[in-house]
Amino acid sequence: MSDDTKSERPSKSAASAMWGGRFAQGPAAVMEAINASINIDQRMAEEDIAGSLAHAAMLGATGVISSDDSATIQRGLEHVRDEIRAGELQWSPALEDVHMNIEARLKEVIGDAAGRLHTARSRNDQVATDFRLWLRSACDRIDVMLVDYQRALVAQAEEHVDQVMPGFTHLQTAQPVSLAHHLLSYVELAERDRGRFADARRRLNESPLGCAALAGTAFPIDRDMTSKSLGFDRPMGNSLDGVAARDFALEVLSAASICAVNLSRFADEIVLWCTRRFGFASLSDAWSTGSSIMPQKRNPDAAELVRAKPGRIIGSLTGLLTVMKGLPLAYSKDLQEDKAPTFQAIDDLELALLAMAGMAGDLTFNGAAMEAAAGEAYSDATDLADWVVRELGKPFRDAHHISGSIVKAAEDRNVTLSDLPLKVMQSVEPGIDERIFSVLSARASMESRTSYGGTSPVRVREQVAAWKLRLSAGES
Ligand code: ARG
Repeated sequence: MSDDTKSERPSKSAASAMWGGRFAQGPAAVMEAINASINIDQRMAEEDIAGSLAHAAMLGATGVISSDDSATIQRGLEHVRDEIRAGELQWSPALEDVHMNIEARLKEVIGDAAGRLHTARSRNDQVATDFRLWLRSACDRIDVMLVDYQRALVAQAEEHVDQVMPGFTHLQTAQPVSLAHHLLSYVELAERDRGRFADARRRLNESPLGCAALAGTAFPIDRDMTSKSLGFDRPMGNSLDGVAARDFALEVLSAASICAVNLSRFADEIVLWCTRRFGFASLSDAWSTGSSIMPQKRNPDAAELVRAKPGRIIGSLTGLLTVMKGLPLAYSKDLQEDKAPTFQAIDDLELALLAMAGMAGDLTFNGAAMEAAAGEAYSDATDLADWVVRELGKPFRDAHHISGSIVKAAEDRNVTLSDLPLKVMQSVEPGIDERIFSVLSARASMESRTSYGGTSPVRVREQVAAWKLRLSAGES
């Protein structure tokens, strides 16, 4: 920093009109730069005006200000809102934040009555109100996006109930499953994400407005009225808590982090499935990018970026947790650092959700490659063991051993289980007969798993139907 900057001393005339009564000078340039949040919190302009409209109406209704002033203020706020929507309002860092920018503009529009709006209110309850309203809308938008993502998955699932693919554990071929079953597992996961956002929304939907700076107010305000008109469930019962709490944002960021992690798992599978090695699926041109040097390349960049998003979103959660840790009651300016990470996380998550819904609908599957892979690597070895249990009455542990020895014999001859001569199987377990071949195929294996929640197409079709009903219009 140069000496010039350090010694800079703005004149008295630059002292804040909002709070500068006892200040002889305005802030240093760097003070203004570190203090101003307008570049970030202008995103809450709609919420700020909604809160002010509710507050002004209440002040009029309770007689704290005259009904004339209340009406003038409300008309003025609507005018300022129109200007903001039209992109006409010039935001000023000298006015620090969205609250003071809007109030200053209101004063230009309606004159002195504007000065009465801040009666029985503080920026501390104002910002807490705005932020809750903003996050409430974010939860609602995210819910719609999660449902769209689920619908895209269910639509694909419906087309691929009978498509067999390898199911993996340890990313090693394990047992054959239905592609629809695999896709529906992500629908279940997304449903729990919806539940987490709904929980967070339910808890955050309380009104801090009227908590004022920290202690409440001596004016006879009606907190139920403002709470109701802003769609909150109730006014918060403790004014210190009302202005100091940010656990509501932490909850939304936690839900966002978990959701982002969940999305990243399918994103990673899209990346894998679209490789030549797997060859299970491909994305259309709309969801692929090329390489600037390798003309043959088709890259699933969007899936890779969704896979990376948890880095940023968890970073936001960790960042805000760290801001909150050890912060004494009630409001401290530290709390201003809540919005940037939260907005960023929500933006990232919304984009990730849109991308996942888009890709989920766009994927084309290579059924032959999936079926071939499903039959590889002795994925029917469990079926052989199960047959030995069922038909020969052996304990599963013994059957497991028998099946393992037969797999070894097949491996030595470099053949699949179904191509292994019956004689060889009988040399391991004499009780095995030709009926064994009916269970030795990927498809038979998939079809046999009819337990509730299992991968048999019979069960999967039921699940597809249940999800379609649940996600049909009006029921989400
Ligand atoms: N811009 C501030 C924030 O985001 C508003 C509250 C300011 N309150 C105060 N006492 N200076 O937290």
